[in-house]
Amino acid sequence: MITSIKTVAAFSLGLAALVRAQYDTALVGTWTTKSRKVVTGPGFYDPVADRLIEPELTGISYSFTVDGYYEEAYYRAIANPATPHCPSAVMQWQHGTYSLPGNGSIVLEPFAVDGRQLTSAPCSYDRSIYVRYEQAELFKSYQVSTDKFHNVPRLDLYKFDGSPVQPMYLVATPPQMLPTQTLNPTSTPSSTGKSRVKRSDGGAQEPLMPMDKGSFFLPKEYNADHWWWAGVGLTALGTVLYMLPTST
Ligand SMILES: *[C@@H]1O[C@H](CO)[C@@H](O)[C@H](O)[C@H]1NC(C)=O
Repeated sequence: MITSIKTVAAFSLGLAALVRAQYDTALVGTWTTKSRKVVTGPGFYDPVADRLIEPELTGISYSFTVDGYYEEAYYRAIANPATPHCPSAVMQWQHGTYSLPGNGSIVLEPFAVDGRQLTSAPCSYDRSIYVRYEQAELFKSYQVSTDKFHNVPRLDLYKFDGSPVQPMYLVATPPQMLPTQTLNPTSTPSSTGKSRVKRSDGGAQEPLMPMDKGSFFLPKEYNADHWWWAGVGLTALGTVLYMLPTST
């Protein structure tokens, strides 16, 4: 009897461990670094206009859902020793699925076509570069704790090589995220839902390429001296079509 109780208990613990290994409720939510100005969701990336929105301060943000989706936002200044008064800045946005393989790591797999990167180097070139961005990530380990100074949940992520990412603090549960599906149209169907942007043809999408200044609109929040937006080829066309009334 004792043995069978032990067996059942061990089995339940095993099951619980299995469920825990799949997803971790402690990880669920939107996390951001101390400035709190970089937060995933529509405030960072506008998928309809296909543009990144510059936050007031640098920082990073990650969101995780209870069912295996993530989103990330990075806004970083890159110091340039040659021109210390004139740092470059990079914004990166990705979303996709994540898994917890059970060894303490987090594996992030982005939806390939959706990631975006905007780089500006005001002193070295007179234009920013807006491109697709796709980078799978492995966090070797993570830890959720209560921060002893701020008394809020804190997330520490450790990169693939064990080096720590800046600590992040919980700012939203449920997480603040864009739809957890492929947002931009491709020739291959999305696994999690249909594309939001209507397309008039079934052809392959052109890669995002930097274009000449003035060839694309300038969002009004932007400082035109430092930021301008490269064209986005068929995505822009798709966006226009999306916004037009449906004729059928
Ligand atoms: C955990 O498992 C994943 C997937 O197999 C692997 O890529 C990662 O390196 C492992 N992490 C550690 C800390 O061994």
